[in-house]
Amino acid sequence: MSARRPWPPGAVALLACPVCDGPLAALPGDAGLRCPAGHSFDRARQGHVTLLPPGHRPPSGDTAGMVADRVAFLAAGHFGRLTAALADAVLAGEGPPPEAVLDLGGGTGHHLAGVLGRAPGAVGLVLDSSRYAARRAAGAHPRAVAVVADSWARLPVRDAVVDRVLVVFAPRNGPETARVLRPGGRLVVATPAPEHLAEIVAPLGLLRVEPGKAERLAAGLDPHLRAAGTTPVRARLRLDRTAVRALVGMGPHAHHLAPGALDRALAGLPEPTPVTLAVDVGTWVRSG
Ligand SMILES: C[S@@+](CC[C@H](N)C(=O)[O-])C[C@H]1O[C@@H](n2cnc3c(N)ncnc32)[C@H](O)[C@@H]1O
Repeated sequence: MSARRPWPPGAVALLACPVCDGPLAALPGDAGLRCPAGHSFDRARQGHVTLLPPGHRPPSGDTAGMVADRVAFLAAGHFGRLTAALADAVLAGEGPPPEAVLDLGGGTGHHLAGVLGRAPGAVGLVLDSSRYAARRAAGAHPRAVAVVADSWARLPVRDAVVDRVLVVFAPRNGPETARVLRPGGRLVVATPAPEHLAEIVAPLGLLRVEPGKAERLAAGLDPHLRAAGTTPVRARLRLDRTAVRALVGMGPHAHHLAPGALDRALAGLPEPTPVTLAVDVGTWVRSG
């Protein structure tokens, strides 16, 4: 399906101009976006749009190679349990079902597409600093819009319009998340547990989950958001070497391995290799 499909109006209505904060509206034919002050932003041929503040250098994001590996690994369904747990968390709780979901650092839009598949009335936004990821995310789901943006800057999203924010293995911006959430809205955040991918960390020389990661997450979100529970997602994956190579290539590990080292290490793994998926899915409620 073409990435230049029509934009869902409900998702466009969530966006704010990165220059003046005014509401953005779609140009004829969904060729781009414009605010009432006349600031306009062209839509890329691949379907996404870039919304960065004036003079803001695009932050580094995933490379084309990392994105290709992420597409391959996720499409094979290895993290299906995680996507399902994210959708469970998004839909959990009392109150009406979510109408607007924002995936920050949403990569290829894979998890958001899974969430929207379980939330038939909802629209979504994927924000990511990587244009390669945004190109893929533009075609991820007909009810989603893909935007190149920086999670550490003011988000190009209007105040209090989003019911759920998703952050999966990506930077979290507590104040901006709280600003864009509606009262009672929730952040669903996935973080790796210490035993995540344990079987391949040592043999492949991968980065370990840093001690104290959960505590630092909490410190970054308080006092803007209040913790409301965590669900551990645990599964034993059986990955062949092609899948392990993609898993390594889609993450930060790729930058730390010498050429050839990965091939040698992969050759020493059993085929298939048992690999632990260990991710904690936390829910946080907007304070106040
Ligand atoms: C580990 S990947 C996770 C992608 C996606 N959430 C998933 O689980 O498939 C981290 C993502 O965060 C993006 N990213 C890194 N820094 C960012 C920033 N400052 N603003 C927005 N996205 C960022 C990367 O480009 C990458 O797509």
